[in-house]
Amino acid sequence: MKNLFDLEAEVAVVTGALGKLGPIWIEALLDAGASVYGLDLAGVKVSEDFSKLQTRFDESRLKLDRTDVKDRQALEAVCRNCIAAFGVPSILVNNAGIDQPPSKTGKGYRLEDIPIEINREIFEVNTLGLFLVTQVFGTRMADAGRGSIINIGSLYGSVSPDARFYDHIPGDPPFLKPPAYGASKAAVVNLTRYLATHWAPHGVRVNALSPGGVLGGQDEEFKRKFCNRVPLGRMATAEDLRGPLLFLASQASAYVTGTELLVDGGFSAW
Ligand SMILES: NC(=O)c1ccc[n+]([C@@H]2O[C@H](COP(=O)([O-])OP(=O)(O)OC[C@H]3O[C@@H](n4cnc5c(N)ncnc54)[C@H](O)[C@@H]3O)[C@@H](O)[C@H]2O)c1
Repeated sequence: MKNLFDLEAEVAVVTGALGKLGPIWIEALLDAGASVYGLDLAGVKVSEDFSKLQTRFDESRLKLDRTDVKDRQALEAVCRNCIAAFGVPSILVNNAGIDQPPSKTGKGYRLEDIPIEINREIFEVNTLGLFLVTQVFGTRMADAGRGSIINIGSLYGSVSPDARFYDHIPGDPPFLKPPAYGASKAAVVNLTRYLATHWAPHGVRVNALSPGGVLGGQDEEFKRKFCNRVPLGRMATAEDLRGPLLFLASQASAYVTGTELLVDGGFSAW
């Protein structure tokens, strides 16, 4: 059974490598034996979690390159760099994404006043950027005849965020999660189905992994309200995310494609 999840000699690309979840996915892939080519925006500081991984794994297993997922030309260049360093990737984790957390200044928007630019940028990174990365790296995988693509979605691609989770946060107007966030993630799930059917004959599987709320940095009142709404009674931890990722990345899921794996503690079942 252990071998079913083995990623020895696999090459994985992970976007959004320097954020909160990036290092969780990367550590799981490295521990399972893969080499990892991490991507993030130029200028983003190497996070503490990523730097810990660099201490555990040298450049023969873990590399970091810089690109904007919205920039096709730059993506072509980093894809060439990745192939030169590690070979053609066989795993792609499309993790880079943006959201808009409650503002520290308490400044929010009424629905009718949300600037279109906020919504546009979210779609451009979360949906169109993911598509561009997949065009560049996924095509190489299809040419090689094998691969697994994991698109990171969100619980909010399936259900609307509950504004009551945020109503203790001072602000006028009160905090409103941008509507484009969930819509951009719902689009990712449908894109996942499209790509899965398109590339199935070429040996490339494409699935979505949609986490619920992941513990880290939220205020106590938010956590209390959120956890009360989760059948398993808690937010997700790094340990909760590793297994589902390795399942989708490895041969353990050889007959799984075009699906969405919700890792939400049962939130969407209620
Ligand atoms: N954290 C959660 O609770 C949670 C829950 C459900 C889904 N998700 C999804 O998981 C993914 C990772 O979330 P996170 O919490 O780590 O977010 P994060 O903001 O901590 O990290 C996102 C990373 O993506 C990078 N990024 C942003 N725009 C980019 C661009 N244009 N090009 C390249 N890189 C870019 C950022 O620099 C950052 O390092 C996102 O897609 C998010 O929607 C997160």
